[in-house]
Amino acid sequence: MKAVYLLEPGPPENLIYGELPDPPPPTGSRLLVRVRAVALNPIDTYLRSGMVKMDLPRPFIPGCDFAGVVEAVGPEVRLFEPGDRVWGSNQGLLGRQGTFAERITVDECWAYPIPEGVSDEAAAATALVGITAHLGLFRHARLERGETLFVNGASGGVGSTVVQMGKLTGARVIAAVGSPAKAEAILKLGADYAIVYRDVEPQLALRKITPGGVNVWWETTREPDFDRIIAALASRGRVIIMAGREARPPFPVGPFYVKGGSIHGFVMFSAHPDEQREAAEDINEWLAAGKLKPRIDRVMPLAEAAAAHRLQEENTIGKSGVLAGKIVLKP
Ligand SMILES: NC(=O)c1ccc[n+]([C@@H]2O[C@H](COP(=O)([O-])OP(=O)(O)OC[C@H]3O[C@@H](n4cnc5c(N)ncnc54)[C@H](OP(=O)(O)O)[C@@H]3O)[C@@H](O)[C@H]2O)c1
Repeated sequence: MKAVYLLEPGPPENLIYGELPDPPPPTGSRLLVRVRAVALNPIDTYLRSGMVKMDLPRPFIPGCDFAGVVEAVGPEVRLFEPGDRVWGSNQGLLGRQGTFAERITVDECWAYPIPEGVSDEAAAATALVGITAHLGLFRHARLERGETLFVNGASGGVGSTVVQMGKLTGARVIAAVGSPAKAEAILKLGADYAIVYRDVEPQLALRKITPGGVNVWWETTREPDFDRIIAALASRGRVIIMAGREARPPFPVGPFYVKGGSIHGFVMFSAHPDEQREAAEDINEWLAAGKLKPRIDRVMPLAEAAAAHRLQEENTIGKSGVLAGKIVLKP
């Protein structure tokens, strides 16, 4: 089969597009999936470059997200049968092979049915970012109807999903984005307010929009500025932190505890399969109803995985603003 693989961590050029043996027939609770679409995430680029170190099989097939069709099932599979369309995430991590290949095997605990009428591209593009947004908003921040949610980095893969789920919860959503065009797009996705952070200091804009502060601040950037975040927080506000492994910013202890604030950090791939499935069930309902629309920046052939990695890296680490949403690749 054709696959993208890595022999050594390094720059995007280390990604090889070539022939690898098909995966063996599925055993236990594993599915053999014919992949139809995958989505790229920043974590794929960190693992590829060696910035995040994990034990990787060799050759290592990168990629967390997939959508495809079940071709065969192991003897213990309970949820799926050949012919079912499935999506999922959490592959290419913690020693597991990834999804950037024509065929993959995946434990059924990480797979969910694709609802009728939902495309492979949409299902793959929603996978990791959708589960992340759901875990953060509902399990960690416990966002409630009528609360104010601020999303810093709202045009990104995670941010644009957080904005939509915030609106689905009945929250008032304020989005910070990098350009007027991205502001227009995020308002179309449902945000109540858009702040162009390159033109206006978000803290000043927030003071006008919500003088009492924000109930939930979702930070997607890799260098959180806690002085700014805590100053903008309402009493008993919650902060979601989910990026920036190297970040060691100063922290305003006094203002934080006096407000009774809380900070919640998490990585989606550490969440239990049952927790991820709970998120996936809501995501499926919203996708099927057309209430959740993944932002897909572009669709590329799987053979162009190295170019896709370069773009993603420029966007997330280089802050170039070159993307507005997900890169989807098709085998
Ligand atoms: N903990 C977890 O489980 C988890 C899960 C998923 C992702 N992550 C991490 O979360 C981060 C975001 O992921 P992603 O997939 O959304 O990445 P992404 O699609 O590359 O989006 C990042 C966005 O950040 C925005 N940004 C850059 N500089 C900014 C600034 N100074 N102020 C406000 N926004 C700024 C950019 O928006 P503009 O173009 O509008 O400037 C960019 O689109 C990554 O570091 C990723 O590794 C963690």
